[in-house]
Amino acid sequence: MADEKNLSMEKIVSLCKRRGFIFPGSEIYGGLAGTWDYGPIGVELKNNVRNAWWKMFVHDRSDMFGLDTAILMNPRAWEASGHVSGFTDPMVDCRNCKLRFRADHLDEGKYGEVKIIDGKKACPNCGSTELTEPRMFNMMFKTFIGPVEETANQIYLRPETAGGMFVNFKNVMDTMRPKLPFGLAQSGRVFRNEITPGDFIFRVREFDLMEFEYFINPNDWEKLFESWVAEIAKWLDVLGLDKNKIYYHEIPDGERAHYSKRTIDIEYQFPFGMKELCAIAYRTNFDLTQHQKFSGQDLSYTDPYTNEKFIPHVLEPTFGLDRAVLSAIVEAYTEEKMENGDTRAVLKLPRVLAPFKAAIFPLVSNKDNVVGKAKEVFKLLQPVFNVTFDDNGNVGKRYRRQDEIGTPFCITVDFDTLEDDTVTVRDRDTMKQERVKIAELAGHLKAKLV
Ligand code: GAP
Repeated sequence: MADEKNLSMEKIVSLCKRRGFIFPGSEIYGGLAGTWDYGPIGVELKNNVRNAWWKMFVHDRSDMFGLDTAILMNPRAWEASGHVSGFTDPMVDCRNCKLRFRADHLDEGKYGEVKIIDGKKACPNCGSTELTEPRMFNMMFKTFIGPVEETANQIYLRPETAGGMFVNFKNVMDTMRPKLPFGLAQSGRVFRNEITPGDFIFRVREFDLMEFEYFINPNDWEKLFESWVAEIAKWLDVLGLDKNKIYYHEIPDGERAHYSKRTIDIEYQFPFGMKELCAIAYRTNFDLTQHQKFSGQDLSYTDPYTNEKFIPHVLEPTFGLDRAVLSAIVEAYTEEKMENGDTRAVLKLPRVLAPFKAAIFPLVSNKDNVVGKAKEVFKLLQPVFNVTFDDNGNVGKRYRRQDEIGTPFCITVDFDTLEDDTVTVRDRDTMKQERVKIAELAGHLKAKLV
């Protein structure tokens, strides 16, 4: 049996659609650029990624507090954070066909090779050289609060979850009384009016973030930054990613945001190139200082041992959930040449992330006693794991279906089961089969799933 990665995004996108992971957004209306919908299988994978992240960074630590803050915020918060003036990308417009392009993406050849005519760049769509000079375009989506659509009522859909954590710093201090260093964690939906969405769910206009704001004494920033880089590496292991496909891109002076003293973009080798998967930034005390200034509230911290009063600094590890899902799928996708010459596609997802932990099959679907027994096994396992029942088509087809969605175990109930209360358990990765007593099944799987 030979393993091949044999990766192309077409294969990934097609598998995601065919097997119910991810569908184009608003598909029956012709779609909506930059939006995708998670299907019944995809939502399980996405929830498992989010839950694994929450467990690792919130439940398994004693210095992290979770939050779930509003998407709509007082617009002053976005003025304070610099998003109103600075959350921008350079764009150029074609005066002829009226299409808009991201200037840096145009230069990188994202729209195809740029033709130069008479020393001028040509529009990748219509070929006209009537392109405007690059202008800055704010990526925040705007909407109105209340019944009157006027500038005074204009608000934004949040482009990151960080703002909600900074504005609750004082509430958490007052209620939980934490000591530095401690963090706030939040996962939720954010919106960015990307000029060039693309590469499937890599660059979209609506996505989920998982972020921390980790508040620290500035004296400790260097060692805590390093320890967070090590934690991020452990998280990439949870996603099952190959270390050789990960690159820690130290953002040089002059290219970082003005408030950042150090930023590392953690990149992953996607089929379309080495691209940012997540990041960590040392944001100094920029955010709390700004929110203190704009809100007029005291956001300082008094050290209980030294009585020193200061505005905490912050380390910000930030993870795009959809990019995490995409990287896990890309990494797990494998094609294997079998001894009989067939090729099987299998998603070798880490077991903890697999949408279903086991699939239960009756060997035949037209014998009540076999089907009834398989349903009993399903009901036995259902309270323990997320399991699925499959009696469609022959067993070979069911294996193929479950392999493609990454189900670690397939359990077949057959005629022998009626005699001896054992089932066949087939392992996704090795395809080896063993007979296990139904009474021992939950324990047997549990031991293999940790
Ligand atoms: N609070 C910091 C912040 O939002 P960012 O680098 O702008 O930082 C964080 O975004 C993460 O969000 C990125 O590392 C990436 O994983 C993800 N991300 C950014 N833009 C995205 C987009 N348009 N579609 C999907 N994920 C995106």
